[in-house]
Amino acid sequence: MLAGCVRGLIARGDRVTALARSQSSLSALSESVPAADRDRLRTHPCDYRDLEALAHALRSIPVHPSAAICWVHTPAEPVLELVRALFPDIDLLRVVGSSTEVPRGDGARFDRIVRLGFVIEGDRSRWLSNEEISNGVVSALLSGQPSTTVGTVTPWDAHP
Ligand SMILES: NC(=O)c1ccc[n+]([C@@H]2O[C@H](COP(=O)([O-])OP(=O)(O)OC[C@H]3O[C@@H](n4cnc5c(N)ncnc54)[C@H](OP(=O)(O)O)[C@@H]3O)[C@@H](O)[C@H]2O)c1
Repeated sequence: MLAGCVRGLIARGDRVTALARSQSSLSALSESVPAADRDRLRTHPCDYRDLEALAHALRSIPVHPSAAICWVHTPAEPVLELVRALFPDIDLLRVVGSSTEVPRGDGARFDRIVRLGFVIEGDRSRWLSNEEISNGVVSALLSGQPSTTVGTVTPWDAHP
């Protein structure tokens, strides 16, 4: 869902480390980036539920990261706490679903939230496409806004 976000950031000249469990999806991501830019993408296979493996993956990032874009299925807090603990000054964007409740604990206060909504088209509605999600997350990152909704979540009764 966020592969387009990775490609968008790489196209801007950013350096990105992408984590996921399967090497095949990471290889596909890598191959979808223009060969000339590929040295700015690192991929690291890792299950974020294994916090030791995640800490190892995060510590292996060769530069101090300025931002983290986290799409983590519930329960997300242990993963986000680890990211905050290793990189206390990081700009942490937490991507959440349309109806995910976001706890406002100590660390969470400083997270930026990107909520994924839906799109209303005439008298119908649909979920966001992966391209809309990726573009919306890049825009949210660059905007600096504490809270962003991609698409809309209102009126909730209109959701697909
Ligand atoms: N409001 C909305 O419009 C909305 C909201 C949410 C989702 N959606 C839609 O729902 C679809 C499905 O969501 P999804 O989360 O299944 O998206 P997805 O596109 O499959 O993204 C999940 C990513 O996280 C990785 N991942 C999952 N569990 C992991 C773990 N334990 N450790 C490390 N990486 C892990 C997956 O790779 P690996 O499997 O290789 O680990 C994958 O890269 C999305 O494509 C999106 O279109 C829509």
